Amino acid sequence: MSQVDSLDELKRQAALKAAEYVRDGMVVGLGTGSTAKHMVIALGEQVRKGLRIRGVPTSRETADLARRHGITLIESVDEWVIDVAIDGADQVDPQLNLIKGGGGALLKEKIVAASAKQFIVVVDHTKQVPVLGNTVPLPIEVVPFGWGSTARQIEEVSGGKATLRMRDDQIFHTEAGHYIVDVHIAAITNPRDLEAQLNQIPGIVETGLFVGRTHLLLVAAPEGVESQSATRS
Ligand code: A5P
Repeated sequence: MSQVDSLDELKRQAALKAAEYVRDGMVVGLGTGSTAKHMVIALGEQVRKGLRIRGVPTSRETADLARRHGITLIESVDEWVIDVAIDGADQVDPQLNLIKGGGGALLKEKIVAASAKQFIVVVDHTKQVPVLGNTVPLPIEVVPFGWGSTARQIEEVSGGKATLRMRDDQIFHTEAGHYIVDVHIAAITNPRDLEAQLNQIPGIVETGLFVGRTHLLLVAAPEGVESQSATRS
């Protein structure tokens, strides 16, 4: 098995474990990305066997996948009661803080995570780091108007280098029509403070820092899937 295949298998193992937390009648937040995809497929299999759930998708991509797998969706409503949200992450630190948004779905992902009674994060072991940053940039969704000035302020606050996300030589647009700047920061030693400071900058819609939001982390390694619950202070 190639390294990519075996990592994908680990993502699948973590996702299958997460699917065990979903019970009949629940409203489930459906994350985005290659790990979340396995979870949606696993839930679709359970739905075919009779499980009744309603999903809240965090991207068009996830909505399409969920529909194809027979999962009923709740999309545009004023307020949900989400029992559990399950999503992947780009990096996880020992306090279960996350960097998310590699796929560009961070805004909906954060809205769904914030309104879920339980937020479960599923990763393969390569996503675990002692300190966030360095190898993975922090995605920040910004309003196109004046984005360059916003990016400069982001650099001043974070000490990092901001790059506008492109795709196929075109500026990448989020589903909400915003841009993403990916910020390369050597070490995010205090994610909570950084998030608070970034949130003061006009033009930032949302950051990919998920601080104190994870209730349960499921990490798949070759030895098996381990769970870690958040300790709340
Ligand atoms: C999507 O915007 C992201 O937040 C993903 O959840 C994150 O990038 C993890 O993706 P993978 O499961 O594909 O690694």
